[in-house]
Amino acid sequence: MPPMLVLGIETSCDETGVALYDGDGGDGSLLAHALHSQVRMHAEYGGVVPELASRDHIGRLVPLLRQVLAASGRSLAQIDAIAYTQGPGLAGALLVGAAFAEALAMALGLPTVPVHHLEGHLLSPLLSARPPRFPFVALLVSGGHSQLMRVTGVGEYALLGETLDDAAGEAFDKTAKLLGLGYPGGPALAALAENGRPGRVKLPRPMLRSADLDFSFSGLKTAVLSRVRELGMLDDEQRADIACGFQEAIVEVLVSKALRAVRTSGLRQLVVAGGVGANRELRRQLDARALKSRIDVFYPELEFCTDNGAMIALAGALRLQAGLAGKAAGAFAVRPRWPLTGAG
Ligand code: KG4
Ligand code: ZN
Repeated sequence: MPPMLVLGIETSCDETGVALYDGDGGDGSLLAHALHSQVRMHAEYGGVVPELASRDHIGRLVPLLRQVLAASGRSLAQIDAIAYTQGPGLAGALLVGAAFAEALAMALGLPTVPVHHLEGHLLSPLLSARPPRFPFVALLVSGGHSQLMRVTGVGEYALLGETLDDAAGEAFDKTAKLLGLGYPGGPALAALAENGRPGRVKLPRPMLRSADLDFSFSGLKTAVLSRVRELGMLDDEQRADIACGFQEAIVEVLVSKALRAVRTSGLRQLVVAGGVGANRELRRQLDARALKSRIDVFYPELEFCTDNGAMIALAGALRLQAGLAGKAAGAFAVRPRWPLTGAG
């Protein structure tokens, strides 16, 4: 396999990510990556404002690209292909990254590799110093998705189970809102939960004992809502206890189902990816229970848990190496809704 320098562009939601990945045959390496988070801009509105997100991506891409080129010591002329997030995500935000990538690739005479955002998350632990090996089971827990997948190889993903309603990150965000925490709610709720007393607030564990590998989190959010209504005005201690009880419940369900998925698949490796994979309590519980079951758990580096360009550059390089050809630059379409199992 010849050296393969892939530029990655991520603009599916509220983070602009650019990265340069050197595929170089077998052991690739991330040469540089740069990220701009729009969190502060959207915080004022209590959530992501799609139009503002798109406009901000437009202004960020060129400076971030320059930053990545300078940090890696490479020039545009050395790039072999440009990968970008084609979906799922916000249509306008996706269009910015896709148009930028396609136009740059056309100007440079390069192929493009449209990448599924979740494939990026799924493969992100391969950027770690201790990467998993195919095949593995992946627990994908982000703001928009909660899925268990069997990953046989690049582009070979089978859905084992998924949420029937809210995604895990969405449940964190909505519950955070109920407790009066700002956007983005997940990390704020997790921080508050650290001050809460375990076991004080008992909440349901939806579908914990169901025979399948599916999840359901909307009932948990409703249970928090009725607890908040019951108690009326909450003091800091009560809020922390509720946050702790919520986190305990969601983590127990995620851990149980993920380990069951590994056991029933006959595999020994579990990969955790997506924003909720940054949750410390989830990592603590998973590590403890996986150790007992002799299952190896792999996480992306914390900076690659949430959205970033590195995972898109990596996914692009791995797709090219796996013979899943890129396309000629030019015409393109984004896919705001796009199931991963249709992306192979
Ligand atoms: O993967 P991601 O950056 O974006 C999507 O593709 O959705 O995930 C963002 C989600 C948000 O819902 C955020 O609240 C959640 O991940 N999140 C967390 C933590 N950090 C981010 N949830 C719980 N604990 C955290 N530490
Ligand atoms: Zn994401």
